[in-house]
Amino acid sequence: MKVLIVCGSLREASYNRMLAREAEKLAPEGMTFEHADFSEVPAYNQDFDPTYNKALSEAETPHAVRRLKEQIEAADGVLFISPEYNYSVPGSLKNAIDWVSRGQSPLRKKRVGVMGASMGVGGTIRMQLHIRACFQFLDAYCMLQPEIVVALAQNKFDESGSLTDEQTRTFLGKYMEAFEKWIQQ
Ligand code: FNR
Repeated sequence: MKVLIVCGSLREASYNRMLAREAEKLAPEGMTFEHADFSEVPAYNQDFDPTYNKALSEAETPHAVRRLKEQIEAADGVLFISPEYNYSVPGSLKNAIDWVSRGQSPLRKKRVGVMGASMGVGGTIRMQLHIRACFQFLDAYCMLQPEIVVALAQNKFDESGSLTDEQTRTFLGKYMEAFEKWIQQ
């Protein structure tokens, strides 16, 4: 079973990247992982999207967008692991979702999951609500329960990036088991 991880943070020392690594480690056997990279996806502009601008050929879709679409298409499930920016989805991640949603959307009927870590006390609750609203429009099958919200992430990972909070580790393992079942359904 192939899972594509889309980390919503581009920074190197990201807690969400650390969370992604731990999710991989705690996942059931048989799940394999690939990581998306949307750092090169340009700001969305309908004028540069062949779906709308008929003067452009499909081949002129930005390379990073085509690559991301292919990765989503090839995956059995997509796991979004993202911080919350200003109570919502980070702009760069939302921008990448906007690009892949046009034309033939690989997120349609795709099994997706969402989790996130933040330094705030609310974790990523609002980001998760907002990204689920996108999935509703995109007709992606988002697992609603269980939920993983890693609040005060700075207290839950050690300097090497390992998740040291036992309760979060337990929840994360259960989440990954549930996500496997969600994809199999
Ligand atoms: C934040 N941060 C933040 N935290 C939070 O809990 N709720 C929020 O709305 C925001 N808003 C926000 C906006 C912007 C632009 C930045 C850069 C940061 C803090 C955030 O939780 C913290 O920077 C995390 O460490 C970001 O996740 P990564 O990069 O460590 O994965």
